[in-house]
Amino acid sequence: RKVAILISGGGSNMVSLVRSMTGDHPARPSLVLSNRPDAGGLLKAADLGVTTAVVDHKPYGSNREGFEAELIAAIEASEADLVCLAGFMRVLTPYFVGHWAGRMLNIHPSLLPKYKGLHTHARALEAGDTEHGCSVHEVTAELDGGPILGQARLPILSGDTPDTLAARVLPLEHRLYPAVLRRYATGDRTPILLTTADA
Ligand code: GRF
Repeated sequence: RKVAILISGGGSNMVSLVRSMTGDHPARPSLVLSNRPDAGGLLKAADLGVTTAVVDHKPYGSNREGFEAELIAAIEASEADLVCLAGFMRVLTPYFVGHWAGRMLNIHPSLLPKYKGLHTHARALEAGDTEHGCSVHEVTAELDGGPILGQARLPILSGDTPDTLAARVLPLEHRLYPAVLRRYATGDRTPILLTTADA
């Protein structure tokens, strides 16, 4: 299988995914694609020897489908048949989501279905939750909806701030996403549940 990874920023999840696709792994990265020309992850991908591309969303303004048609063209030119969203910060329309239905994953820093959307760590703390974590799900038209394919959970510690919590969740993301992709690339949708003990 060939995988296109879409990023908007530093791409730490992209790096973990690329590094995992070696040896007998059924997939290989064919493209790292960013909507932002200045995304730090583009340099990291190039260092890892992965082809990169940029489709800047700004020139498209409110023409989301025009932007997404360019994304599809770039992804298909790389021969990818799986898409991993990894810190990709653009909302995708049903057009793009429908085109990749059943072939697109996303990682979200919360225990979905809790805390869809942004500022997930602050919201978990404000709610007084005792645990938190991250989820990998198949992408559907509902933002951060779709079937959950993996979760990693950890305890919230007294004194945690959104930043300290995010810093503990990120390494779990880096373990969970590659584990889910490896299984998903074989067509297996059995959910993976990790705890910090696994980490
Ligand atoms: C992470 O918190 C991830 O959960 C979210 O975007 C943030 C940055 O990810 N999807 P990355 O370092 O760009 O992979």
